[in-house]
Amino acid sequence: MRIDVLTLFPQVFEPFLAHGQIRIAREKGLLDVHLHDFRGFAADRHRSVDDKPYGGGPGMVIMCGPVYACDEDVVARGRAAGLERPRRLLLSPQGRKLDQAYLEELATEPWLVLLCGHYEGFDDRIREGLGYEEVSVGDYVLSGGEMPALTVVDGVTRLIPGVLGAPDGAGSDSFAQGSAGGDRLLEGPQYTRPREFRGLTVPEVLLSGDHGAVAAWRRAQARQRTAERRPDLLETTHFTDDDRSSDRSSSAPAGRRSSTPSAGAATCSSAGGSSRSLS
Ligand SMILES: C[S@@+](CC[C@H](N)C(=O)[O-])C[C@H]1O[C@@H](n2cnc3c(N)ncnc32)[C@H](O)[C@@H]1O
Repeated sequence: MRIDVLTLFPQVFEPFLAHGQIRIAREKGLLDVHLHDFRGFAADRHRSVDDKPYGGGPGMVIMCGPVYACDEDVVARGRAAGLERPRRLLLSPQGRKLDQAYLEELATEPWLVLLCGHYEGFDDRIREGLGYEEVSVGDYVLSGGEMPALTVVDGVTRLIPGVLGAPDGAGSDSFAQGSAGGDRLLEGPQYTRPREFRGLTVPEVLLSGDHGAVAAWRRAQARQRTAERRPDLLETTHFTDDDRSSDRSSSAPAGRRSSTPSAGAATCSSAGGSSRSLS
């Protein structure tokens, strides 16, 4: 995947791109990131990119000229590299809210262009004329689009096949689309050594070596945690026969101090029935 980022602060991205899964993806040749400072496309000697809003009001608005010129340059570069048409994303608190399903959709794209705002945001003719779709990281306002853009880059990168080491990649993470009918549950609790720490023990089932029992326990724990913390997610959950029989055989929710190898089924009360290359 190629990602071009248009920003006034390219240096903000560099440390993030040099670490973790993003670095690994770049080293494996699965991710090719290019940073572009659109101030470099300003038309005057002061390198101005913003101006006062028409009609008055506080703050400054990013002008069309530098962004259009930078966008055109980026598209020409991508085409020269053999790509056709980017999916353009403008980071904005007014956009479609980012979630795992949106990231999964973006991760299938060969080419993304991310445009980061500042000040009071952009002249609306940038969105309208260049066909940028707006993406929000939540219902709050940050001072710039750099952290939202990094959120998109990170979230998308770990979904590119081959980036994560585990065989099923991000498949068991919270919000990942489950195998059982497209549900998106929170992940259940995880443990590592030691077996006992300050009187807190690891559930016996995880030590049993019974892969079927472990899988059933994990599914039940995920459903329980989702019911407790995000019952809204259960409204679209598809319940399997195993879920139903697990619910019937359970009288109490499984917990951290569980000492039996039971699947520890959850009770889901609210269940709904179902221009610098960093490649
Ligand atoms: C101070 S904000 C501008 C907010 C704008 N005046 C409004 O009320 O919608 C400056 C820039 O930060 C970025 N930004 C701020 N909050 C964001 C959010 N929740 N999601 C995505 N980008 C955001 C956008 O790129 C935005 O252009």
